[in-house]
Amino acid sequence: MTDAREPLRRYLEARIALGEPPVILPSLRRGQVLAALAGGGREVKGPPELARLAREGTAERIRELDFDELREVALACRRCALHEGRQHVVFGEGAPDARLLCVGEAPGAVEDETGRPFVGRAGQLLDLMLMSVGLRRDEVYICNVLKCRPPGNRNPQPEEIAACSPLLLQQIDLIDPKVIVAFGSFAAQTLLGTRESIGRLRGRTHLYGRFPLVVTYHPAASLRNPGWKRPTWEDLQIARRVMDGDSGLRSGAPGGELSLDLP
Ligand code: URA
Repeated sequence: MTDAREPLRRYLEARIALGEPPVILPSLRRGQVLAALAGGGREVKGPPELARLAREGTAERIRELDFDELREVALACRRCALHEGRQHVVFGEGAPDARLLCVGEAPGAVEDETGRPFVGRAGQLLDLMLMSVGLRRDEVYICNVLKCRPPGNRNPQPEEIAACSPLLLQQIDLIDPKVIVAFGSFAAQTLLGTRESIGRLRGRTHLYGRFPLVVTYHPAASLRNPGWKRPTWEDLQIARRVMDGDSGLRSGAPGGELSLDLP
């Protein structure tokens, strides 16, 4: 006869194998723990499967996870080599029912240190940009294509994007925003499956699946080239209109004054 505690034992073993403490995470639902303890014959996305998905497994299985499960898989993720050098996984943060979802490229040094997205200098500019269209950071959701920092902030590699993007795509589906803003070419190209430049993609609304998507310059690029702040503001105004219920199919530059200078 099989021991009813076997699934729990396997879960704790899997956590130890992943270098995680052998505890049941509070984020696990009571039902998942009970299911594991009961060892029922029904196929559950129980803890051992989450631990396995953090190491390997198909994108299809990741696309079935709920938000807590997805975060759990992301936080233990070893699906590409970036886990070796990271201090923190930067899953994303903000309102889980946000109407506007910001997608950046990958965590930088400060994000890796803190586990929070866009909190360095580019993040400060992003906050100002959001404010310039009447949005507070806690009203939106902010995440990245990659959840771990590439060494020295190098560009994401195709295999890293391939390993990580199922997490992003499921995050998008679960948040179900009214509009996505892709900051920079990696976010835009990953979601739109194109090699077009930001200059050619920005200024209008695209679709990622059923989601309207606006492409704009990455705030880090605007720090280097302040001339890109105004077009970014214009793109955010397009996104804001879509978020507010306009189809966004009209583009065009709004007027007005703008100050996006960091102190
Ligand atoms: N750049 C990004 O693309 N994401 C962050 O979280 C920080 C900087």
